[in-house]
Amino acid sequence: ATGTRPPRPPSGVHGASRAAIRAGHLRTDRWWLAPAGTAAGLLAFVAYSTWRAFANADYYAAPYVSPFYSPCLAQNCEEMRGGPNLDLVGSWWGLSPALLILVFPLGFRLTCYYYRKAYYRSFWASPPACAVAEPHSRYTGETRFPLVLQNLHRYFFYAAVPVAAVLTYDTVLTFRDADYAWGHMGAGTLLFLLNAVLIWAYTLSCHSCRHIMGGRLRHFSKHPVRYRLWGWAGRLNARHMQLAWASLVSVAACDLYVYLLATGAFTDPRIF
Ligand code: FES
Repeated sequence: ATGTRPPRPPSGVHGASRAAIRAGHLRTDRWWLAPAGTAAGLLAFVAYSTWRAFANADYYAAPYVSPFYSPCLAQNCEEMRGGPNLDLVGSWWGLSPALLILVFPLGFRLTCYYYRKAYYRSFWASPPACAVAEPHSRYTGETRFPLVLQNLHRYFFYAAVPVAAVLTYDTVLTFRDADYAWGHMGAGTLLFLLNAVLIWAYTLSCHSCRHIMGGRLRHFSKHPVRYRLWGWAGRLNARHMQLAWASLVSVAACDLYVYLLATGAFTDPRIF
């Protein structure tokens, strides 16, 4: 009949290429544990970071600045007298200055190949685990809006590198005491050092970074430097998931440390 479309052929889990089994899946292990644990971990971080990003307070305790608020691009970073303030935006910005900077690391992590796998599995059940069919009847991958925007990941990588550099700079500034005299070190310095190392390791283990180092080459033998960089990025890349989680925890730990210092919960133990 005119005006009626032919029914769409079954796709996804009902597609002709799938094995015709009645059971939803044949796994007998606790396959749900990994996506459930991932969802719990990501939700905890999202809740904590949202609270802290909107708090607009207690993000500076000399000489430490919370990584959520650095670099501080607005004029309203009053807490940070003597701190690493980079007032590019000016006085019109009235919201939390964290919101100006967090879009970059957030976009980097949101479009990260590992985090994509993590939240596709844990929040969208697409699919929830290997050999467990997804509940959705159609699958379009990342070919349509909005998921096609995941292709922006490589640009977020370019933004993530200066962010890692800023966090390194902040770590150097922690070799001061509360009166900004150099040559000191507190327990927080160790935490900031660990965080800087993990952030760099996570950033440089990025799949886009690996491609930038060694992709689109015909002959590695003609590009020995890029070959070596690609090898290093590849070795880090094998640990990308672990680095994603470790750096997520360390960045939250640094922020919590600053928060506890700023609210007077304890004083920074000095090492020298
Ligand atoms: Fe994870 Fe690029 S793939 S940060």
